[in-house]
Amino acid sequence: MQNINIGDIYEVYIDNMAHEGQGVGRLDGIAVFVKGALKGEKVLAQIDEKHKNYLNAHVEKILLPSQERIMPKCIYAGKCGGCTLQHLSYKGQLEFKKQVVDDSLSRIGKINTIVYDTIGMDNPLYYRDKAEYPVGIEDGNIKSGFYASKSHNIIAIDSCMIQSDYSIEAMKTVREWANNYKITVYDKKTGKGLLRHVITKIGFATKEVMVIVVVNGKNIPHKKELVSRLKRNIENVKSVVLNVNKNYGNQVMGNENIVIYGHEYITDFIGDKKFEISPLSFFQVNPVQTKVLYEKALEYADLKGDETVFDVYCGIGTISIFFAEHARKVYGIEVIPDAVEDARRNAAINGVDNTEFIAGKAEDVMKDLCNKGLKPDVVVFDPPRKGLDKDVVEASIKMNPEKIIYVSCNPTTLARDLRIFEDNGYKIKKVQPVDMFPYTYHVETVVLMSRKEDK
Ligand SMILES: C[S@@+](CC[C@H](N)C(=O)[O-])C[C@H]1O[C@@H](n2cnc3c(N)ncnc32)[C@H](O)[C@@H]1O
Repeated sequence: MQNINIGDIYEVYIDNMAHEGQGVGRLDGIAVFVKGALKGEKVLAQIDEKHKNYLNAHVEKILLPSQERIMPKCIYAGKCGGCTLQHLSYKGQLEFKKQVVDDSLSRIGKINTIVYDTIGMDNPLYYRDKAEYPVGIEDGNIKSGFYASKSHNIIAIDSCMIQSDYSIEAMKTVREWANNYKITVYDKKTGKGLLRHVITKIGFATKEVMVIVVVNGKNIPHKKELVSRLKRNIENVKSVVLNVNKNYGNQVMGNENIVIYGHEYITDFIGDKKFEISPLSFFQVNPVQTKVLYEKALEYADLKGDETVFDVYCGIGTISIFFAEHARKVYGIEVIPDAVEDARRNAAINGVDNTEFIAGKAEDVMKDLCNKGLKPDVVVFDPPRKGLDKDVVEASIKMNPEKIIYVSCNPTTLARDLRIFEDNGYKIKKVQPVDMFPYTYHVETVVLMSRKEDK
């Protein structure tokens, strides 16, 4: 290690892949993470960073390519921080995601179980229903696109292989308008300037489009012109919203929304269930695979019709509403009040009358429901990346449901949480990765756990 210096080039055999998609090999017995390398490859890697126990490097030359290596289809591959697996075949991506889940469960969770093959998409392109484009300025020109990997440098883009055409067109329209009317761009250092982000939400089934312009203020000049350009360029613009974000720091959206055209929300379907989506509410970003994910969760719940179900971290109530017709009662718990309002409205729209949505932190609400003596038969978790709060785990174990279904977007926190359930009377029965994010390293997993005394 002492003789290895930044800038040095070494031949490395890649025998594994890290969870963010780098190839992993060894130099002097030290792990080296090689950006752009794939499992089974021999590469020349240039050292970028030296850490106490590992090295970071990038591929200089591929000496022996993997059979799963492909030419990236996207012209921004390698620059844009979005799709980091552009050089890996789709089959290879699905295998990689299964391996990431498997490694996390065994290494972090010390869990010995079978992980099923990742369920992929028939058409893994143009699948996203939401995009967030940061806006910046370069040589006096306004640019928008995506951040480069692990930085806030904006890579300006004009196309994207995972976003819908409506979304790209909306982003370009706002950019052109901003350049034409010399709209000021927010500068993090000074806190001055208006335009921060452009966000789009698309109803895949309905084709409805919402454009959210995030501004450091409560108003923006030339709004009429913005709306008329958006209406002219994109069919089915249903909503144009100014989101007020005067916060310093990296938070993308503020809490206040001002509708400057159309409705406060757009609608979309998952299966035959209709959902209204507002600017701040969380909605899964891949509607095609969301249906696959929820159907798997429903299959694992194996409801007979008389169960009480808790949908913890319920967002706008999608899982609750999906499960409701198969259960006696579903309680949804969610921290964002707007999302809870959406959930109630969504239940009504779908004629569902056996759901109850509770606004609050899952850790507080679960404790409260436990103290009140509620006994769910099935608990579904779908937490953010940081996983379950320990109070949520504790309350759930006390409530002693027959089944727990854990939907996770982060194998690391999933493994940590599963270990606690295994130590407290639950057995992990099924682990199913689902590919919600093709061409990125992210993976979603559905896990079925049952009480140990239950067969
Ligand atoms: C991964 S999303 C899942 C949403 C929903 N189940 C779905 O499939 O669309 C996680 C949700 O947890 C909510 N959330 C985050 N922290 C929370 C907390 N401490 N208590 C309750 N909800 C929380 C977020 O607002 C978000 O809606």
